[in-house]
Amino acid sequence: MTATLYTGIGELVTNDPAQGDGSALGRLADAALVAEGGTVAWVGPASRAPAADARVDLAGRAVLPGFVDSHSHLVFAGDRGEEFAARMAGRAYAAGGIASTVAAVRAADDAALAATAQRLAAELRAQGTTTFEVKSGYGLTVADERRCLAIAAELTDEVTFLGAHLVPPEFAGDPEGYVALVTGEMLEACAPLARWIDVFVEDGAFDADAARSILTAGAAHGLGLRVHANQLGPGPGVALACELGAASADHCTHLRDADVAALADSATVATLVPGADFSTRSPAYPDGRRLLDAGATVALATDCNPGTSYTTSMPFVIALAVRECGLSPAEAVWAATAGGAAALRRDDVGRLGPGHAAHLTVLDAPSHVHLAYRPGVPLAHPVPQPD
Ligand code: NIG
Ligand code: FE
Repeated sequence: MTATLYTGIGELVTNDPAQGDGSALGRLADAALVAEGGTVAWVGPASRAPAADARVDLAGRAVLPGFVDSHSHLVFAGDRGEEFAARMAGRAYAAGGIASTVAAVRAADDAALAATAQRLAAELRAQGTTTFEVKSGYGLTVADERRCLAIAAELTDEVTFLGAHLVPPEFAGDPEGYVALVTGEMLEACAPLARWIDVFVEDGAFDADAARSILTAGAAHGLGLRVHANQLGPGPGVALACELGAASADHCTHLRDADVAALADSATVATLVPGADFSTRSPAYPDGRRLLDAGATVALATDCNPGTSYTTSMPFVIALAVRECGLSPAEAVWAATAGGAAALRRDDVGRLGPGHAAHLTVLDAPSHVHLAYRPGVPLAHPVPQPD
């Protein structure tokens, strides 16, 4: 196995408070890191770096754990640019827009769906993301959900079954019939391809009773739980996610005090997706400050999807979280790395210390602060490999 020494690291973010400055980011100045066989073997001051087979000099740049994007919908077809433009002209967002993407997905062949998903995954990686989750949810028939999950599984191990994204038009008069399909034949067919199950709990999507039966059925099939919660109003999603022990409640834009307390008192991560609030022209952004001050664990994710957040950029999400959600740059970087790992219940990624995955993201900048300080500038890249 080849050991590679990365040196000339102006700032190394380890997310290990036992390292360096003792902060949550565990920042080391003038650092070096040795990677071997895909795993971090050593981190420390450059002056004490051990010998290695190959050497890469990063010339004073900052290095972070690769971003962990715990919420995306990369398997889709079609374009909703006109819907976005109409929203920017004042039209409100409603859950029903999902149906136009569902029609496009049903009409698309596997090759077209896979090509789009691969292109978006490449965009994520090019901007410093090294672990990402992908959901189904735009097929909404047994066969279409299955093929979307199979395409997602080609890209990542973090695959989520979201048959409960919307009641599709053919079940408009029979929502109970659709819940029966999701919890029955569709779940049977889809569970073997997924690690997680998710439900969009919202007016116009699924109510608390339907979501409870869907999530409970998913858990009985061995799936971990995630919930689209409290995006458009203060609904029951967060309370349900916490009650059922979901790994994550995502969106959290409209929270009551009891929701914040439930998140703080549970192992359910509050995953903020401010790209969606940006793109829906939401009247409010999620209050990350309130969540952190209460003691909740906060993650950031792109929610990349064609309707409400067509971005693959974790740096953009970090900048929004700093400017609009009350996170400091350090808190936002933690949420986009260790927070995302917590939302996926992973302890191998999101940190850089001996034994962790050697997923390194390098910034064309001297510190993590630049991710928010220089919004829109493509600073984050995969770390270069030795020649
Ligand atoms: O996370 N909230 C539900 N689902 C997606 C968007 C769905 C769509 O409009 O296509 C989201 O924002
Ligand atoms: Fe989503």
